[in-house]
Amino acid sequence: MRTRPLKVALLGCGVVGSEVARIMTTHADDLAARIGAPVELAGVAVRRPGKVRAGVPDELVTTDATALVKRGDIDVVIEVIGGIEPARALITTAFEHGASVVSANKALLAEDGATLYAAAEQHGRDLYFEAAVAGAIPLIRPLRESLAGDKVNRVLGIVNGTTNFILDKMDTSGAGYSEALDEATALGYAEADPTADVEGFDAAAKAAILAGIAFHTRVRLDDVYREGMTEVTAADFASAKRMGCTIKLLAICERAADGQSVTARVHPAMIPLSHPLASVREAYNAVFVEAEAAGRLMFYGPGAGGSPTASAVLGDLVAVCRNKLAEATGPGESVYTQLPVSPMGDVVTRYHISLDVADKPGVLAQVATVFAEHGVSIDTVRQQGKDGEASLVVVTHRAPDAALSGTVEALRKLDTVRGVASIMRVEGE
Ligand SMILES: NC(=O)c1ccc[n+]([C@@H]2O[C@H](COP(=O)([O-])OP(=O)(O)OC[C@H]3O[C@@H](n4cnc5c(N)ncnc54)[C@H](OP(=O)(O)O)[C@@H]3O)[C@@H](O)[C@H]2O)c1
Repeated sequence: MRTRPLKVALLGCGVVGSEVARIMTTHADDLAARIGAPVELAGVAVRRPGKVRAGVPDELVTTDATALVKRGDIDVVIEVIGGIEPARALITTAFEHGASVVSANKALLAEDGATLYAAAEQHGRDLYFEAAVAGAIPLIRPLRESLAGDKVNRVLGIVNGTTNFILDKMDTSGAGYSEALDEATALGYAEADPTADVEGFDAAAKAAILAGIAFHTRVRLDDVYREGMTEVTAADFASAKRMGCTIKLLAICERAADGQSVTARVHPAMIPLSHPLASVREAYNAVFVEAEAAGRLMFYGPGAGGSPTASAVLGDLVAVCRNKLAEATGPGESVYTQLPVSPMGDVVTRYHISLDVADKPGVLAQVATVFAEHGVSIDTVRQQGKDGEASLVVVTHRAPDAALSGTVEALRKLDTVRGVASIMRVEGE
């Protein structure tokens, strides 16, 4: 074993960084044995130097992250600050000064992964980011390496624990969205400002990363269609139950049937209770991967939290250090297919639509005609009437999203349709 240590700069010492520092210290001997050289924490960059950080010696703490990555003797930079800047500048500076980088920063990778990959390649260094998607769950490495000989056609996942917790509470207790959100906040599963989670931004960033790697093409955050889950109601869950389904916020990355394009989207969807993702409870994450030769694979586990996320960071640290000792680099960006990302209108799926309609003869025929005119074929219809008003629940066969949007627009114009109570996609069949 080499005795000269590999030097690690830790940028950020919050929820994830503090656990990274703790595990690096407590497991130092095991890490050294697995890598073939000791790893030494050479510096820790933070914003507030006065804060007490258990297990982190004061002399390692600095507020000058730029000077730390520019030192010239750093082998690996671990970026767990988050956000776009200064994280992006620090990562590119780290590459320029000879370090490889491990990051957990989904927002930056989804926004501008290309810049990071290019800098890593230019300087012959590694960029690893297992922790950026689904916390502890090994997903990036299986997609980048284990499935590199296969053809991935679909990635379907629950990649945000906060929203899964809220939807699970709504499902099991019959609670409304606000009530379930309050419980998630009280238990620490939701942040004070839950927008990034409940509006699907966090999941969309992960979808962009997963789609890019799965399909060997460049997918940016802007390419991902996104709908949050704040409009999901207890009534939607009741409808889902009647269909033998539950509701999950899903990230779905698909190769088109003709193989010529891909799509990436995040939205709430009904999935059958028989689907493995339906049984993912509380704040857990799970990702279902469909590959041509491998078939269907499911990855499941804790998708966030300091210690689970640090596990993924440490796994990357070991890999990057091994590469360094072997004077090699791991896989870089793979975008050779250059498949275009199609708009949401091209996505083909099934729909569950609840309409409030007048309870009088001929309404059903009128509604059915609108569906037919837009080429959307109906699978089942359920009608319930009371006091001159009725609700009509239509479940369609697979149809393009654009056709469904046209249908709904036309339905809203019918005198007999009082309102469109909800539209939900049906996935996983
Ligand atoms: N938390 C999770 O469960 C989780 C899961 C997966 C991925 N991630 C990702 O991991 C990253 C870190 O998340 P986190 O939850 O650990 O965040 P966090 O608790 O807010 O910690 C951020 C850390 O960065 C430091 N920092 C902020 N701005 C800085 C600057 N300009 N220069 C130097 N240090 C700076 C902060 O310093 P102070 O301590 O002085 O404030 C803090 O130590 C993010 O990219 C996040 O998306 C987190």
